[in-house]
Parts: sequence; structure tokens; C-alpha cells
Amino acid sequence: MLNYPQVPLDFMNRDHAEFVALRAGLLTQLDALSPETALDGSLDELLEHTRHHFAEEERHMQETRFPPSPVHKGEHDAVLADMAAKIAYWKQGRKRDDLRDWLEGPVGDWFVNHVATMDFVTAGFIEAQRGVRT
Ligand SMILES: [Fe+2]
Repeated sequence: MLNYPQVPLDFMNRDHAEFVALRAGLLTQLDALSPETALDGSLDELLEHTRHHFAEEERHMQETRFPPSPVHKGEHDAVLADMAAKIAYWKQGRKRDDLRDWLEGPVGDWFVNHVATMDFVTAGFIEAQRGVRT
């Protein structure tokens, strides 16, 4: 179970819940010794979800001219590049232990830290900007 805070924007909370469910689903598939093709599909889904979720956040940051958006986007870009590389590594070597270690450790740690810092601050800013406009 990942312990992460809710942020002041519902669409981001929904995306975060989906990310957590996709990660948990992958760990369950590893426990169940699911076939490689099933894991491939779930990993592709995780990458696709993450790309979409990041793009949505970045669109909102642009619309509200969030000043530190390059920093936030920079972390998104680094995470997407790393995720794509880890998935490619899995597809080449099929090392289940490495995949599990990555999902349990770095992916979980990154997610909790990112939500608690960048997403939390960003969502607060966007929410405040919306309040100003209406
Ligand atoms: Fe983010």
C-alpha cells in the first residue's frame, strides 16, 4: 500500500488512484506468475497512463502559467524516459525479480514523493488561479 496525500484537484487524485491500481495490479500479476505477454500489456498500460496523466498536468500548468512548471515537467520527462527504458529492459531480459524490485522500490518511492511535493504544490496553485478567475 502506498501512503500518499490527496491534492486539491480531483482529476489529479483520480489519475493518482489509477496509477496506484496499475502498479498494484502488476505486483499481483507477478505474484500470480502471469505470463510475460500479460505483464507486457500491463506495463504498456502503465506507461500510456503516465504519459497521459503528465500531459494533462502540463496542460493545466501552461494554462495557469505556473512559474516552476519547467521543473515539474523536467521530472515528468525524466520519469517517462526511465519508465520506457525499464520496460524495454524487461522485454529483453524477462527478469521478474528486477521488475518487481523496480515496481516495489523506485516506482513507489518516486510516486509518493512526487505527489507529496510537485503535484501537491502545483494543484494548490492551479486551484487558486481558478478561484481568481471565477
Ligand atoms: Fe506531476
